[in-house]
Amino acid sequence: MEAVTQNYVLEGERLQIYTYPEPVLTKVAQEVTVFDEELKLLCKNMLYTMYQAPGIGLAAPQIGLSKRVFVIDTDYTREYKDEESDEVVFDNLNPRVFINPVIKEKVGETTYQEGCLSLPGIFEDVKRFEEIVVSYKNTDGEDCEISANELLSICIQHENDHLDGIVFIDRLSSLKRNFFKKKLLKAKR
Ligand code: NI
Repeated sequence: MEAVTQNYVLEGERLQIYTYPEPVLTKVAQEVTVFDEELKLLCKNMLYTMYQAPGIGLAAPQIGLSKRVFVIDTDYTREYKDEESDEVVFDNLNPRVFINPVIKEKVGETTYQEGCLSLPGIFEDVKRFEEIVVSYKNTDGEDCEISANELLSICIQHENDHLDGIVFIDRLSSLKRNFFKKKLLKAKR
């Protein structure tokens, strides 16, 4: 397997990931209106941060920026080069960037055990739509659309929630939600 360390998303600045109950995580994020080099750099650094974390999705509020941007890769693999080294090898990278996304169609129902880089240590089953159609802009400001199912659909819905100030425990029963919120507050102290 060839190392893909030359790939542009495997170089960048590792951004700080904010954890619950940081206020930026519960705010509705602002639309992106300027599509410039700064935005491209932000997306690159968000992808870099996501791969290093490692995670399969990262939304701008999670790095303290209240903007409607998230990045996703539900396809890559990450493993140690060999037993002795701590060098990590990535393969099958499929970085995706979603700006000002709108979920237009939602069909069916599915349940998946979710986690979140902003809610460390919590993994719970969350109910989501099975298939979705999303319109969004790319970093050049061009209109795009994608149909998604399986993990990509779940991940888009999870990240899109972040843009509306919703974390996945908000999708649980109030009993479970309150339990985890207390747990997270305690861990933060
Ligand atoms: Ni998350």
